[in-house]
Amino acid sequence: MKRTKINDLLKSEDYGKKVNVKGWVRTKRSSKNIAFITLNDGSCLNNIQIVVDLNNFDEKVLDKINTGAAISVDGELIESQGAGQKVELTTKTIEVLGEADPDKYPLQPKKHSLEFLREKAHLRFRTNTFGAITRVRHVMIFAIHKFFNDRGFYNIHTPIITGSDAEGAGEMFRVSILDAKNPPLTEDGKVDFKKDFFGKETNLTVSGQLEAELAALALTQVYTFGPTFRAENSNTSRHLSEFWMIEPEVAFADINDDMDLAEDMLKYLVKYALDNCAEDLVFLSKRLIDEEKNKKQEERSMELIEKLKFVLENEFERITYTEAINILKNSKPNKKKKFQFTIDNWGIDLQSEHERYLVEKHYKKPVMITDYPKEIKAFYMKQNDDGKTVRALDVLFPQIGEIIGGSQREEEYDKLYKRIKELNIPEKTLWWYLETRQFGTVPHSGFGLGFERLMLFITGMGNIRDVIPFPRFPQNAEF
Ligand code: 4AD
Ligand code: MG
Repeated sequence: MKRTKINDLLKSEDYGKKVNVKGWVRTKRSSKNIAFITLNDGSCLNNIQIVVDLNNFDEKVLDKINTGAAISVDGELIESQGAGQKVELTTKTIEVLGEADPDKYPLQPKKHSLEFLREKAHLRFRTNTFGAITRVRHVMIFAIHKFFNDRGFYNIHTPIITGSDAEGAGEMFRVSILDAKNPPLTEDGKVDFKKDFFGKETNLTVSGQLEAELAALALTQVYTFGPTFRAENSNTSRHLSEFWMIEPEVAFADINDDMDLAEDMLKYLVKYALDNCAEDLVFLSKRLIDEEKNKKQEERSMELIEKLKFVLENEFERITYTEAINILKNSKPNKKKKFQFTIDNWGIDLQSEHERYLVEKHYKKPVMITDYPKEIKAFYMKQNDDGKTVRALDVLFPQIGEIIGGSQREEEYDKLYKRIKELNIPEKTLWWYLETRQFGTVPHSGFGLGFERLMLFITGMGNIRDVIPFPRFPQNAEF
């Protein structure tokens, strides 16, 4: 018999129909004549209940049906007698496909801590929480492509191995085949990368932006959605060493167009999740309430679905960096020295505590900040006439802080060239980028949305290591 997905069965009313399901056992309860098995195949959050008639049922088979085991069930769909589900399956025929020794299987039918599950990332997909996150993640990936496709953007694949540092922060993972113990050296004793695989120094990319810009200056609206890698030693709940980024790039667009696109996109994605992930979001909402029940009322986050709707219903606040600094300088926590980093001078970078204050306490809605000091932003950003600021854009969200970073790009050759020189960026790694400013250059803008930061927001999870299947962070590349 062909397998039917549990998701389809749970919606079906074909009582009496003979069907086959396959999946992994969550629980088993048995008495003398009857056993109840709950089975999950990942097609949805809910399990199907299997009612086993134990008359003439092989006891050895029953013994093998334990939590974690994979089974195949031929049965009949019936209207459920019990509360909580509409249908269940009655059966006398179960085949055990893969056993799971109950003394060794790590996932018991009880709540496990997220820390414990991180150590069991190879099995955590089998929990309700990670099943839900994985499905929502898929739906969001699909929604991102749909958003851009519907608006006439072209997806481009930007390189993963690069010879340039897009953000200029020097936080890159080297890609090399040179012998680490005994590398070839140049005459002046440096590692001779001419002898390396690509004939030069190469790294894993930190961003696909620079190459996306090249495509935008021909196809007008493009986006890249790929893995990016950062060798920064940040052990926080919002940083990964390997994460996915969505980077649209649009020609003939300025910073205001960029902000419009960012707000449209975030609202579209939140709405798409609400419309298409209802069951998983309700589960994740309950999970969050449960997790926070020991917190003080004022420290608890907003109910998940309410929080998602809240983003849809409010226009994002648009302010400049200078305005943000003034608000923060005069804020209560700053005056009472409650911030870890006190705000005293114009020019300092905002920390996540400041970003969250602006969003959660001051405006109580998402905030877009533009026009940052040029010293704290990347070389490619459009320089303002004041000589001090650049047309940068950061979008800040509750609980997350920065979810998007972007800018209008410097399209004037002379200004870009001067900035690259000022920052001592090797020109030979960017000659092609500079050349686009000599041939048909136009104003253009873009941004990067950190996919896992989006996932944190949508799922209400507290740690970024739980919204990507196999997180990479300092001292961890397991699985
Ligand atoms: O602000 P960032 O560094 O901007 C860029 O890389 C630009 N090239 C984007 C562009 O304009 N095309 O990174 C963009 C976003 C951040 O706002 C954040 O959401 C996410 O990427 N991000 C990270 N997410 C997880 N772990 C990290 N270590 C991250 N660093 C940045
Ligand atoms: Mg940034």
